[in-house]
Amino acid sequence: MDLLALLIFIIPCYVANAAPVLLGGGQPMDMGAKFPDGRRILGDAKTIRGFVGGVAAGTVAGGILALYLPLPFFGSAWAQFLSGLLLSLGALLGDALGSFIKRRMGVEPGKPFLLDQLGFIIIGLLLAYPVSPSAYSLEMVAFIIVLSYILHIATNAAANRFGLKSVPW
Ligand code: CTP
Ligand code: MG
Repeated sequence: MDLLALLIFIIPCYVANAAPVLLGGGQPMDMGAKFPDGRRILGDAKTIRGFVGGVAAGTVAGGILALYLPLPFFGSAWAQFLSGLLLSLGALLGDALGSFIKRRMGVEPGKPFLLDQLGFIIIGLLLAYPVSPSAYSLEMVAFIIVLSYILHIATNAAANRFGLKSVPW
């Protein structure tokens, strides 16, 4: 497993997941609507601007990497770009799915939950799989999940430290 290639591969997913902290705000994706259980569908922490901004930021990052750091498992720069887009879209969908599950379980926005660290990476990897199946192995997925778990916790602690997030998770 080429560690450096793996890290470059997954960067769009991380950028997409991190960007909403800076770019988010405004109208929530669920428009304030509630689920039949009486709780919000997603909650105020999932905004349209955060979703669109996150997908855009991750896709741009992936596009720049596709141009300057072409990876061996992609047949073309376009394939690498597409992978970045799907990793980014998956990151934001996985993030929203995590919030949906948290709300159903009665966990408030901002409160920690296992899926905070995993949902975005798992759905991102799933969506991008068809573009480069040869990049995937059990080892690769396990490594990325462990790395993401550690990175997510570290970056959220840093975002909290620098006043971007009110809680360190
Ligand atoms: N954010 C956003 N739109 C998104 C995702 C995130 O605006 N689609 C912003 C919000 O400002 C949010 C911050 O990024 O507060 C951090 O996101 P996250 O940690 O995923 O939200 P939580 O506060 O943990 O809320 P939840 O319990 O719903 O995950
Ligand atoms: Mg969170």
